[in-house]
Amino acid sequence: MSTSSSPEMQQLASALAEGVASIRSSTSSDDLRTLMSALTGKKGAIATVKASLGKLTDIDARKALGSAVNDALNELHSAAETRSRELRTAEFAEQIQSERVDMTELALSARTTQRRGRMHLVTQATERLEDVFIGLGFQIAEGPEVETDFYNFEALNMPPSHPARSMWDTLFIESDVEGSVVLRTHTSPVQIRVMQEWPPPIYAVMPGRVFRKETPDATHMPVFHQIEGLVIDRGITFADLAGTIESFTKAFFGSGFTSRLRPSYFPFTEPSAEFDIRRPDGSWIELGGCGMVHPHVLRAGGLDPNEWSGFAFGFGIDRMAKERHGVNDLRDMYSDDVRFTEQFS
Ligand code: DAH
Repeated sequence: MSTSSSPEMQQLASALAEGVASIRSSTSSDDLRTLMSALTGKKGAIATVKASLGKLTDIDARKALGSAVNDALNELHSAAETRSRELRTAEFAEQIQSERVDMTELALSARTTQRRGRMHLVTQATERLEDVFIGLGFQIAEGPEVETDFYNFEALNMPPSHPARSMWDTLFIESDVEGSVVLRTHTSPVQIRVMQEWPPPIYAVMPGRVFRKETPDATHMPVFHQIEGLVIDRGITFADLAGTIESFTKAFFGSGFTSRLRPSYFPFTEPSAEFDIRRPDGSWIELGGCGMVHPHVLRAGGLDPNEWSGFAFGFGIDRMAKERHGVNDLRDMYSDDVRFTEQFS
């Protein structure tokens, strides 16, 4: 055919050959992208040939050139695809190489030149408590720090305007939720959440942050930590509670320590008690509250009090850490002063 050697066909063939050659020698994915938009764009050599289509009067010649233009474009795209794959493979290998980290080197330099951080005293105490309770067969659970009135009070046998609510200086949150929303004043609401979610028997401890409207001083903080315990099973008695507190005391503090329970009042337990720990020297530490889970609380957790019974306990973690490390002022534990933190390992 005469068209095969027409000037347009020749122009197209050389544009294609040049284009493929430059695609093959492109050196990065970015280059290739720029190159392709030049080659296939409106100002490219192929576009120039395409523009001349309109001037061809011979229909056959026009058809032949039109399909040759399409073929050329297809060929450019497939060459670009092949090259792009090669480049990406190479670039990926290069990236892996450049991001490679020699862990042995890092570990060595950390040991010799970097000071290691330490866990906060309260974190250390929490982890030790968890370990001890796990050893006694408990599981760990957590609940939200922002709670509804229902979980923080009502489900714990404190209906609205129950006087026992004033045992906690509560921080309220403005919200659109019906009823009030509070920063939880204790970890006890997690008892309800666990009862609602886990089928009994339940042996759980629930550590976490709690909040009260307090002015910070040596022994009080508006934000502190508690750990809650909950046991629900068939035929659980007060003796199981006393025995568990005693086992915990020995496992956590040491075999020279013992515990005692004193009658007390909490709305969510009946009977209720406070428990103290006796040091080997005969002095006592007040630790927390405990008791048999009140039937109203079991019901709020979705359990039938005729079938299930249980006990609960709760105590503060910060004061224990303070006690254990001989810290004089709770505020020091939260000052983020490295000279303080460094004293404890
Ligand atoms: N929630 C109580 C408080 O913050 C502590 C407490 C007392 C927890 C008795 C309990 C319990 O689980 O049975 O003061």
